[in-house]
Amino acid sequence: MRYPEYRPRRMRKNERLRALIQETELSVQHLIYPMFVKEMNEKRVSVPSMPGIYQFSMEGILKEIESVIDLSIPAILLFGIPAKKDEMGSEAYAEKGIVQETVRRIKKLFGEDILVITDVCMCEYTSHGHCGIIRDGDVENDETLNLLAETALSHVKAGSDMVAPSDMMDGRIKKIRQMLDINGYYHIPIMSYAAKYASSMFSPFRDVAESTPQFGDRKSYQMDISNQREALREIALDIEEGADIIMVKPALFYLDVIALARQTFDHPIAAYSVSGEYAMIKHTAEKGYIDYKRAVIELTMSIKRAGADIIITYFAKDLARWIKERSL
Ligand code: PBG
Ligand code: ZN
Repeated sequence: MRYPEYRPRRMRKNERLRALIQETELSVQHLIYPMFVKEMNEKRVSVPSMPGIYQFSMEGILKEIESVIDLSIPAILLFGIPAKKDEMGSEAYAEKGIVQETVRRIKKLFGEDILVITDVCMCEYTSHGHCGIIRDGDVENDETLNLLAETALSHVKAGSDMVAPSDMMDGRIKKIRQMLDINGYYHIPIMSYAAKYASSMFSPFRDVAESTPQFGDRKSYQMDISNQREALREIALDIEEGADIIMVKPALFYLDVIALARQTFDHPIAAYSVSGEYAMIKHTAEKGYIDYKRAVIELTMSIKRAGADIIITYFAKDLARWIKERSL
């Protein structure tokens, strides 16, 4: 037997000793809160799959952002649900679209007090629910790129602080970067959904965002769930094309991808803890089978431990509250 013995339990004896060797810490400055605004909504609407998450009205979201700011959450990720959809998703890039109008209001009211990151995609805006333009039964890549670039530009013109393309078309980061640059918005960062998997975990989101595909699935553009090395190629490509932050999505089932990306790249990594992750914990805790707070902290900690710098999470308000109360 080796002497002296290493006894790990020595450092677990009490709260102070444990805190002293805590390796990973959750901080509010790294959280992004996803929010939804729906055109023509009079008041906020909830969906059964995501208790506590709402489709806000324009006035409602402004009020809610006040409490987000009070909690010191630095950024929101904004999604819009238009009043009317069409084949070309034209409300996505309309000057007076729901996201564009909402961003204008938020920026006018709150200015620098909050970062507004806008999700750039077509699926909430197209009648078929796909993330681009349909030709011959599938999304046409290059035609879609132009519309995505138009969308990003319209967001930035309205005052968006950062754009986050979530469509997974090839070449979109380059196209958007070029579009922003030639219009003088070279200072606006792009957070790219770089490794986004065709996951089962998006269903609750699609209820809230009203973006369920009306036929087929997203497997011809989102990544195959079995692939890890391909994620590195996707991320490398987006970095080459000019992404400032790279994202892995979902987070929980892809912690291996986050950890590998952390080892491989220097860029800031964001992880999107998606709607399915929220729903799994929320509903199970509501039934009393797991402890809500402990589960949320454990989930979020696992993502941070894996190597994510930034965490996009529907639990952001609860986490921020616990951090503020020093009760993490
Ligand atoms: C749209 C988009 C999706 C999510 C973010 N942006 C869903 C999808 O691809 O169908 C998922 C977010 C979540 O599940 O919380 N492209
Ligand atoms: Zn989409």
